[in-house]
Amino acid sequence: MGAAVGKRLTTAGLTVLTDLAGRSAATRKRAADAGLEDASLLDIAARAQWTLSILPPSEAETFAKAFRDAHTQVAHTRPVGFADCNAVNPTTAKRVAALFAGTPIKFVDAGIIGGPPHGDYDPVVYASAAPEDQPALDEFASLKQWGLNVKTLKGEGAGVGDASALKMSYAGINKGIIGICTAMILSAHASSPATASALLHELSDSQPFMLKRIISSTPDMLPKAYRWAGEMEEISAFVADGLSQSGSSEQVSVGGAGEGLTHLGLARLYERIASSMKDSGEKGEDVSEVKVLNDFVKEAKHVVEPKN
Ligand SMILES: NC(=O)c1ccc[n+]([C@@H]2O[C@H](COP(=O)([O-])OP(=O)(O)OC[C@H]3O[C@@H](n4cnc5c(N)ncnc54)[C@H](OP(=O)(O)O)[C@@H]3O)[C@@H](O)[C@H]2O)c1
Repeated sequence: MGAAVGKRLTTAGLTVLTDLAGRSAATRKRAADAGLEDASLLDIAARAQWTLSILPPSEAETFAKAFRDAHTQVAHTRPVGFADCNAVNPTTAKRVAALFAGTPIKFVDAGIIGGPPHGDYDPVVYASAAPEDQPALDEFASLKQWGLNVKTLKGEGAGVGDASALKMSYAGINKGIIGICTAMILSAHASSPATASALLHELSDSQPFMLKRIISSTPDMLPKAYRWAGEMEEISAFVADGLSQSGSSEQVSVGGAGEGLTHLGLARLYERIASSMKDSGEKGEDVSEVKVLNDFVKEAKHVVEPKN
């Protein structure tokens, strides 16, 4: 995502810096292809007007701290903007925002909905900020003229955490539905292959749109399962925090009376798929969960689009 967003900006004529120290060969190649300039974090802190954090969500806070420290060292009076664009829960976004309190760094909470930009396609970068940082939010939104599809989230109660909350809510529905379908296909197959096949035919008869969704989403999900596991944990915490605040229950464990467990269970499921993908890669053929899911999709395609 970071390289693709960077490419949009370099294509529009901006200079985009990225710190490639310690990064993999694949990341270095993507950065070079996107026209990004390798720079140290100190250099980025000294030169960049805006810093967009796009990396694994688990690294978001550590990176924000490192950026703040670098900015303190090199340019502590120059006002700059920092946008956390990662799929983190609103509590994490607020913790990141707090890191910049009392510094000249203006914080924007952002959440990207959609896949990496390519061709005519652009994901939406939703953004929100604290009431006092609305000018910085408007400045971030002006990246629209450089090719970034930014939409600001303003209005009653909107502030830091709301763009992340929107991302969590959307991803919780989108990736949650795919996770539930995956869990039920695997469970049906564990009962017996005949049960999985019967499930497929029943979906085709009574919920054909759902079967089509499984056909299109499953192959897309498999290679991303490792990343979706972390995202499900963030969503679980989001649901837990939100529902325990709403006072729906006096029991506060994993969200009110445990509502956050739904996505926590999906996190474990996606971890399992990721492990099965790794085994499949090492063996050079589909094994265990990956085989069951790919075989299901193959059969579903024949049912939905029968060959003449
Ligand atoms: N992909 C999407 O469709 C999508 C959609 C919406 C939002 N997002 C958000 O975008 C962010 C990145 O997702 P992605 O799909 O691009 O993930 P990804 O494919 O796993 O790529 C992560 C990138 O971050 C680099 N990285 C890892 N640790 C880092 C660190 N500590 N500091 C700097 N860079 C680091 C990785 O480099 P190495 O190769 O060296 O590990 C890699 O280039 C996530 O927060 C995700 O939620 C992605």
